Amino acid sequence: MSNSTSNHTPGAAAKKVTAPAVQARKGGQKLTMVTAYDFPGGKVADQAGADMILVGDSVANVVLGYETTNEVTLDDMIHHTAAVARSRPRALLIGDMPWMSFHVNPDETLHNAARLVREGGAEAVKLEGGAERVEMIHKIRSAEIPVMGHIGLTPQSVHSMGGYRVMGRGLDDARRLVGDARALDAAGVFALVLEGVPVTLAQVITEEVSAPTIGIGAGPHTDGQVLVMHDLLGFNFGHYPKFVRRYADLADEATGAITEWISDVRAGGFPTDAESYHMVQASAEQLLAEHRERRLKADGPELRAIP
Ligand code: KIV
Repeated sequence: MSNSTSNHTPGAAAKKVTAPAVQARKGGQKLTMVTAYDFPGGKVADQAGADMILVGDSVANVVLGYETTNEVTLDDMIHHTAAVARSRPRALLIGDMPWMSFHVNPDETLHNAARLVREGGAEAVKLEGGAERVEMIHKIRSAEIPVMGHIGLTPQSVHSMGGYRVMGRGLDDARRLVGDARALDAAGVFALVLEGVPVTLAQVITEEVSAPTIGIGAGPHTDGQVLVMHDLLGFNFGHYPKFVRRYADLADEATGAITEWISDVRAGGFPTDAESYHMVQASAEQLLAEHRERRLKADGPELRAIP
């Protein structure tokens, strides 16, 4: 999978990715963003050389077992963002703003975005929605927090969309999404996620906005791609949408490994001597002798046969 144009050279001291650096990649080498929700997730995403790590509210589905993303709270998002931040990634770390954390008013929105930054260690935030979010984006940006937009299939709108479905197939819907993209671009988002939209619409939006577009289920013409880590690794126990390509089957591998361990334990093959700690021999012998002595006193001569 590696190629000579990768920004990431294992072993080399790589430069920290920033929001302006992402913005500057418009039309250049394809950007990559992967989700992560904890310390090891942050480590593997970063070691692989992803440009951006998104602590997505998809944590609700793939880690916490909820039906919809609307069940995660800002406190949940801060908790998971902070865990990823402790992996100190070179990648830009983006915290997803959960449902109802940016809908009430601009002051509350800014307060919540600032918590993701201050308590969670996010270096940027992402929020779902179109032109109706412009006021909130201005407010967050007024505190120097970079904002990533997200339009198309926005999972937090599951109830108003009537389920999860591709958006912008019809001409009117497609035009509305182009308008949303332009509005978010003018509001200064540093990048824009396009989720679940037809290829042609994603291409048009990508050509019309100055911010790099990051696609998921949006075809090949966006400036970058994002996938949910648990989908990419085959570690999602829910539905796999058609746009997901699985690069591993971790669920099977993990189940196989744990099954093997269980059978080793049951057969007495785990742990071996090399997997155990030992005392200095003289101390071990003395301890055993004292133990035998105590048992002899307590239980009588029939236990003399203890080795
Ligand atoms: O929460 C998430 O994982 C996301 C990505 C799918 C873009 O929003």
